[in-house]
Amino acid sequence: MSAPVDRRSPRAHYLPFHVPAIGDEEIQAVTDTLRSGWLTTGPRVKQFEADFAAFVGARHAIALNSATAALHLSLEALGVGPGDEVVVPTMTFTATGEVVVHLGATPVLVDCDPDTMNIDPVAIEAAITPRTKAIVPVHLAGLPSDMGRIRAIAGRRGIAIVEDAAHSLPASYAGVPVGRIGELTCFSFYATKTITTGEGGMVTTDNDERAARIRLMSLHGISHDGWKRYTATGSWFYEVHEAGYKDNMTDLAAALGIEQLKKAAAFRDARLRIAERYDAAFNSLSELVLPARRADSEHAWHLYVIRLDLDRLAIDRAQFIDALRQRNIGTSVHFIPLHLHPYYRRTLGVTPADFPIASAAYERIVSLPIFPTMTDDDVEDVIDAVRTAIELHRR
Ligand SMILES: Cc1ncc(COP(=O)(O)O)c(C=O)c1O
Repeated sequence: MSAPVDRRSPRAHYLPFHVPAIGDEEIQAVTDTLRSGWLTTGPRVKQFEADFAAFVGARHAIALNSATAALHLSLEALGVGPGDEVVVPTMTFTATGEVVVHLGATPVLVDCDPDTMNIDPVAIEAAITPRTKAIVPVHLAGLPSDMGRIRAIAGRRGIAIVEDAAHSLPASYAGVPVGRIGELTCFSFYATKTITTGEGGMVTTDNDERAARIRLMSLHGISHDGWKRYTATGSWFYEVHEAGYKDNMTDLAAALGIEQLKKAAAFRDARLRIAERYDAAFNSLSELVLPARRADSEHAWHLYVIRLDLDRLAIDRAQFIDALRQRNIGTSVHFIPLHLHPYYRRTLGVTPADFPIASAAYERIVSLPIFPTMTDDDVEDVIDAVRTAIELHRR
């Protein structure tokens, strides 16, 4: 029997998986910054930090050039180093794991919860050893991890938590915004994230000592706001106290961030409306498992990840993605779990069987477009393409 053919005409133009929502305000702000003569870390970074701290309700917000830098400097500030272990979910982007390696410590991968695909607290507990220094829960897709249980596990043993909130602005857990739940929270403003500065990141914390350490290490280990040395009130004199890094954010990026942050809540509402339309359209399709929600949490809806029930379909995930591409719909996969990548397999000796939930989920996940500037027609086209692929290929 020949494979079924999709005879309906696809949309005229390719719908990318993500398009950043950049308005005239952002363009004006960047232009003004270019004209100001101050391009790197300066007054706009300070403004963005103040706005961001107020937005999540944290005492400190430290702007950096990526979430990768935020994770790295947070773990560094906790003193993570050689001989230490850091528990990270396998279902994440490599940034979460690689920063542990950069500090000379060992990432200990753990499996995910079958419903949410967030880190599984039971698996965390099983992975803890006397060497465990920190746990890095990732709030995958924008859905907060089970922070109540994770904090109880960590608190009992004096283990630190660094939240990877690259996906979760704005989100909340038990009524508390992500960014002020735990001690250190790391956000991303990469081009595909919920707000963007092109490349960028932020750490929020209420801890003065950790904030000071992150600030120091983010700019060459230079004392006293090194960036101020070129201002009228600044001094040419500075001292290097540590072998720091070059992780600071530029004023150009911060100019974007200030404008994007003003729109963060509206962007989130727009994504929520798209998620609700997808939910309503796909609810009756038994071939799909829809994204989990938590009654105690507000979801940032950075990603809308469906899972295919492969037993009910005659095609695999790659063919499903191909069917959507033929109808001009872009998709992505979040994530290829760390334990399936050659680097982690080689250095940690892990196998797919060690992480049965994440390994099985990986075969089934597809991230659909969900960004605020999608039109109603765009959303309909995605729904139509998903329905068509399923109707043509259901067993
Ligand atoms: C879960 C997660 N953590 C960390 C990062 C790293 O973010 P950045 O690109 O800002 O360094 C990403 C980026 O995709 C991510 O998805």
